[in-house]
Amino acid sequence: MPEDFVVTPWEVTGEVDYEALVRRFGTQPIDDALRARIRKHTGDLHPLVRRGLFFSHRDLNWILDEYEKGNPFALYTGRGPSSGIHLGHMVPWFVVKWLQDRFRATLWFQITDDEKYLFRDFEKLEDSRTIAYDNILDIIAIGFDPKLTKIFIDTEYIRHLYPLAVQIAKRVTFSTAKAVFGFDESYNIGQIFYTAIQAVPCFLPSIEAGHNVPVLIPCGMDQDPHFRVTRDVAERLGYSKPAGLYSKLMPGLFGLKSKMSTSQPESAIFATDTEKAIRKKIGNAFTGGRATVEEQRRLGANPDICSVFAYYQYLFAPEDTYLAEVEQTCRSGERMCGDCKVELADHVVKFLKEHQARREKAKDRLDEFILRD
Ligand code: TYM
Repeated sequence: MPEDFVVTPWEVTGEVDYEALVRRFGTQPIDDALRARIRKHTGDLHPLVRRGLFFSHRDLNWILDEYEKGNPFALYTGRGPSSGIHLGHMVPWFVVKWLQDRFRATLWFQITDDEKYLFRDFEKLEDSRTIAYDNILDIIAIGFDPKLTKIFIDTEYIRHLYPLAVQIAKRVTFSTAKAVFGFDESYNIGQIFYTAIQAVPCFLPSIEAGHNVPVLIPCGMDQDPHFRVTRDVAERLGYSKPAGLYSKLMPGLFGLKSKMSTSQPESAIFATDTEKAIRKKIGNAFTGGRATVEEQRRLGANPDICSVFAYYQYLFAPEDTYLAEVEQTCRSGERMCGDCKVELADHVVKFLKEHQARREKAKDRLDEFILRD
């Protein structure tokens, strides 16, 4: 199969072949044995993990070895504040919250306003910071435990980040940065340096504790290149390599060939969308339906290519029996796409109404979560 897809931290295009991506990035697939090992500690499996949507990892067995030896791990994840939060961004965060709850792990949450400025999403640095604060409301609304969560914005927390960043940057050559990220002469020097900043939180838990703390990074697979570079320098700096737990990229509403993306707002459902906007976007979504109702009743539809079904699978049918019912009635022709869309929209509207209420309350809770220099 031709590998005509691109996955970098800044670009995801084409239909991603995840088996090929695991080979390309050199990560490990998550198999049943590893899922069983996680379940031994957690008692359950988050649906995104159970369904293999979190499909790949680096050194997760080592994280569990250390945990079993009494050396608990910290969690690290992040957000590049380029725009409002969409449901795709929340995919890793739901699993981060589940892991935080089950393992009582401290979470370090980096907000990279510098990255989004350097990579040209904004003309003014302040604009990136404004979005950062807006995004933090959605992060708090996910329900992280304030006693175990440290959120920091790069340009505000830089005195803590910079000493480590320079130590990392000194050990990454320009030729490595070019090979991993495809930089050429046209990139600005901030972009080339930036990975050093995203690497820093991998080591902050160890600095805070005064000894080596294992770090697990749950995130979308697109972020792995940063951590490949980080892992190469970690031991030279006296730290353990950070481990990764990677999710597939939830597709947008225009079909499975493209991920949910801010650059196509109609393809994504945003945390602050109104009920009307949600229903309209889902109403226009690409499905695996047939040309006519009669044909669909006779031949059934195809959930394997349907973006609406993907929403059930990722987020809106956490019970396996319900997901199986959606799939079976779709394939058999009992379920019509219009009804299926309304059913999905009902779930999304309910979830986002509750989220938006928590988001409103988060405005008074920023100080419980944010670290400042
Ligand atoms: P950002 O803001 O692009 O994305 C935030 C998180 O959301 C994931 N993601 C998705 N996951 C599933 N389906 C999707 N459609 C989807 N779109 C985005 C991303 O993989 C990411 O986990 N450079 C980072 C910010 C960052 C970071 C980190 C992320 C700093 N440190 C540590 C993860 C881990 C960024 O711009 O993410």
